[in-house]
Amino acid sequence: MKIVMIHGQNHKGSTYKIGRMIANKISREDDIVEFFLPRDLNHFCLGCYACMEDVTKCPFYEEKNKIMTAVESADLLIFTTPTYCLRASAPMKSFIDLTFNYWMIHRPRKCMFSKRAIVVSTAAGIGTKSAIKDITTTLLYWGVPSVITYGISVQAMNWAGVADKKKEKIEKDTTRIANKVLKRNRVKAGLKTKALFMMMRMMQKKDWGSGEAEKMHWDKNGWLGTERPWK
Ligand SMILES: Cc1cc2nc3c(=O)[nH]c(=O)nc-3n(C[C@H](O)[C@H](O)[C@H](O)COP(=O)(O)O)c2cc1C
Repeated sequence: MKIVMIHGQNHKGSTYKIGRMIANKISREDDIVEFFLPRDLNHFCLGCYACMEDVTKCPFYEEKNKIMTAVESADLLIFTTPTYCLRASAPMKSFIDLTFNYWMIHRPRKCMFSKRAIVVSTAAGIGTKSAIKDITTTLLYWGVPSVITYGISVQAMNWAGVADKKKEKIEKDTTRIANKVLKRNRVKAGLKTKALFMMMRMMQKKDWGSGEAEKMHWDKNGWLGTERPWK
C-alpha cells in the first residue's frame, strides 16, 4: 500500500514517531513517502487567487505540486501534527490554505473519493480533538471518504519524556489502527461526501462558483452531467 505522510512539523518528536509506527505496521519502507512542513513547503497563501484561473499560476506551484502529485497517487494519507495552542500546527494550516483549490467547492479530484487517511496528533494535555478537526475538515472537503483519527495526550514535550506505560498503550493502539486499515481494502464515498458534492455541483451549475475556468474543470470531468467521482 502506497503511503504518503504529511508532517506538520520538521522535527521527529512524539507525533512523528506515532505516525511512523502506524505507517511501518502497514507498508514497507519503499512504499512510504514523507513530506515535512515547513521544510517542503515553506510558504503562506498570499490570497492572490491566481490558482482560481490556473492552478499552475500559484507562486508556489512547483513545491506544492510535488506534494500533491504524491498525494494523488497514494492509497493512504497519514497526516501528523503536534497540537499547538489547541489547533494543528501553523505549517499544517498553511498547507491547508495552499491547497484550498482542491476543496470540493473549487476543483475536486476524482482520485480523492476512493482514498483513505489517518490523522494523528499529540498534546501534552488537551487539544488533540480540535487540532485533528482542522485536518479532517479539509479531508472531508477534498472528498476523502474514510478517515481514522488518533489523538493522545502524552504528557511530555518529546518522545523521550513519554512514560513507558503510555508507550505500551501507543504500541497497542497503533497496531489496532494498522490492522483496521489492512483489513479493509476498498472504501466508498458515504452519504455525507455525496451530499456535499451534489451541493457543490448545484452551485457550479448555477454559476455560483469562482468562475468559468473552475466550471470547466467540473464540465470536463462530466460532473455537471451524469458522471460522478465515486464508483
Ligand atoms: C507552540 C506550542 C503550543 C502547544 N500547545 C499545546 C496545547 O494547546 N495543548 C497541549 O496539551 N499541549 C500543547 N503543547 C505541547 C505539545 O502539543 C506536546 O508536547 C506534543 O506532544 C509535542 O509533540 P512533538 O513531540 O511531536 O513535538 C504545545 C507545544 C508548543 C511548542
